[in-house]
Amino acid sequence: MKTPLFIVLLGPPGAGKGTQAKRLAQALGLVHISTGDLFREHLKNETVLGQLAQSFMSKGELVPDDVTIKMVEERLAQPDCEQGAVLDGFPRTPAQAESLQDLLSQFGVGVKVAPLIAVPDDVLVERLSGRWMSTSGRVYHALYNPPAVKWIDDVDGSELYQRDDDKPETVRHRIEVYREQTAPLIDYFLKKGLLVEIDGTQAIDCVTENLMKAVKEA
Ligand code: AP5
Repeated sequence: MKTPLFIVLLGPPGAGKGTQAKRLAQALGLVHISTGDLFREHLKNETVLGQLAQSFMSKGELVPDDVTIKMVEERLAQPDCEQGAVLDGFPRTPAQAESLQDLLSQFGVGVKVAPLIAVPDDVLVERLSGRWMSTSGRVYHALYNPPAVKWIDDVDGSELYQRDDDKPETVRHRIEVYREQTAPLIDYFLKKGLLVEIDGTQAIDCVTENLMKAVKEA
């Protein structure tokens, strides 16, 4: 059996973590775990956890650590994670990073590499205000990654929508929360020798290429 491979994608809101995590997971045969997507799935299914998460997400605040860690623990316990995962949006606090280390010890491994997708704030606001989502999880951008027909998903023809937390004032608060609560993880992974900075302002394919290189060299 192959050694499980766990990759942590770091970066501010709108850096392209979701876009790239899907591509890496597909290329490497791993599962893509996005805590943001898991919370939105709970919200869609009207669970208690979904309602709780929404009260934080709508304000651009982080969902409390204990709730988030438990949800990730349950996800990692599923059989499709045996080969590893691309983690997108987790960990986001030092407490989550410590818990991840404990959770991965059950697989007999640690995080293999933690690429940081670096993008300046003005580009983040532009990316999130032009982001169009499909209910199936595909992500488009009005200018940089447009669907063939405006507001229509290329694959299933459904109508695209904008996320509630992509309003400019909420985006600005999410970036502040990232700087205060998540940016300390850059130092955490740097000290462990796992951090690789990737220029996230390049074209989507180019970022994927650089991420794949970072994973292969890890
Ligand atoms: P989450 O869903 O994780 O949001 P986020 O981290 O803020 O990241 P985004 O999804 O907004 O951006 P992204 O980096 O994935 O960029 P994308 O690829 O879409 O979290 C939402 C909320 O859930 C949080 O605020 C919090 O409340 C809660 N939450 C989640 N995880 C949590 C945790 N661990 N702890 C506590 N709370 C948690 O790209 C953005 C746009 O840019 C797209 O339109 C895309 O097409 C475009 N684009 C991407 N790459 C490029 C490129 N290279 N060039 C041009 N355009 C590009």
